[in-house]
Amino acid sequence: WRYADALPFETGRTGPVDPENPAGVSLPEGDTPLYEVPGIEADLGLDRLRVKHEGMNPTGSFKDRGMTVGVGAAAAVGVDRLACASTGNTSAALAAYGARADLETLVLLPAGKVAAGKVAQAAIHDARILEVDGNFDDCLDIVQELANRGEAYLLNSLNPFRLEGQKTIGLEILERFRDEEGGFPDRIVLPVGNAGNTAALYKCFRELVQAGALARADVPKLTGVQAAGAAPFVEAIESGAEGVERWDHVETRATAIRIGEPVNAPKALPGVRETGGTAVAVTDEQITEAQRELAREGIGVEPASAASIAGLRELRERGEIDADERVVCLTTGHLLKDPEAATAASDDPEPVGNDVDAVLELVGE
Ligand code: F0G
Repeated sequence: WRYADALPFETGRTGPVDPENPAGVSLPEGDTPLYEVPGIEADLGLDRLRVKHEGMNPTGSFKDRGMTVGVGAAAAVGVDRLACASTGNTSAALAAYGARADLETLVLLPAGKVAAGKVAQAAIHDARILEVDGNFDDCLDIVQELANRGEAYLLNSLNPFRLEGQKTIGLEILERFRDEEGGFPDRIVLPVGNAGNTAALYKCFRELVQAGALARADVPKLTGVQAAGAAPFVEAIESGAEGVERWDHVETRATAIRIGEPVNAPKALPGVRETGGTAVAVTDEQITEAQRELAREGIGVEPASAASIAGLRELRERGEIDADERVVCLTTGHLLKDPEAATAASDDPEPVGNDVDAVLELVGE
């Protein structure tokens, strides 16, 4: 809400919404760290690499930035029921902000395909959770129809207020870079699911250019990364198609971006193309390796987030990114969102006898 001038409401709130003054509901969100990652930077042979960790938001993902504006808008309109489809993080954020605003919240999840931490968040914040025998795209079809029938207020990233809030990621990156590096990043690499963040960043940059605050030549190249098993956006970029074709069958360990139809593609494809960016697909193995690389630098992210680092490595190896480019990778969600993925990517704990000699025998003196 420090960037309220760029948002539809004037101030953030820290408590239940006052109907007479329905500004955003705030926990508060944003102001996430921009980490140095010297190990990965050197390994990739880049002069300047930073990681913006959106997992450090109140519910552990960037969704909070969108929800503070979106739920504020819902309260302003005076709706009875908030709803979203979700691969997990949107539902966690909506449940928390819905609770804060004291509004009824309904979330539709693809059964068996949402990480445990996210379901737990939605549950404890008291959302009504419905598990659908289908994928995320099926859930979103249903929620859109509920909204069309006037039965719920939709808080997926099709809601433009969500994207307004997510613009602040771009504002924070540009401001920090200007203050600390004396310039702007050449490229921002981010995971793509519904392409909401890609669309939001593009809108942020367009508005800054229009306002005369950012030169067109300084706009960072938007570079999207998808999992190879769910890559309709990459397919559209590579083929030069005008829109994306929905993939009916999607699969990836990065369940947050297990999405067959990026609904913000009409807003995001021009963003990638007009900023001179690109899009790339990475395997689940590349994603897991990137998750471990970040962990070795002390940064804990969920698999979908690690896709940004995996995609950057892939593009470096293909020779598509020069060593002197200043790059920011966006990591979108916290490690603890998906404890099972973290456990699967790591060595098992070792059982040991209940005495010091047994411990020393294992670890060495
Ligand atoms: N990373 C994480 C951790 C996410 O949860 C999501 C989307 C994305 C990236 C993709 O972002 O849609 O802006 O391209 N998660 C949604 C959800 C779909 O339901 O939580 P996008």
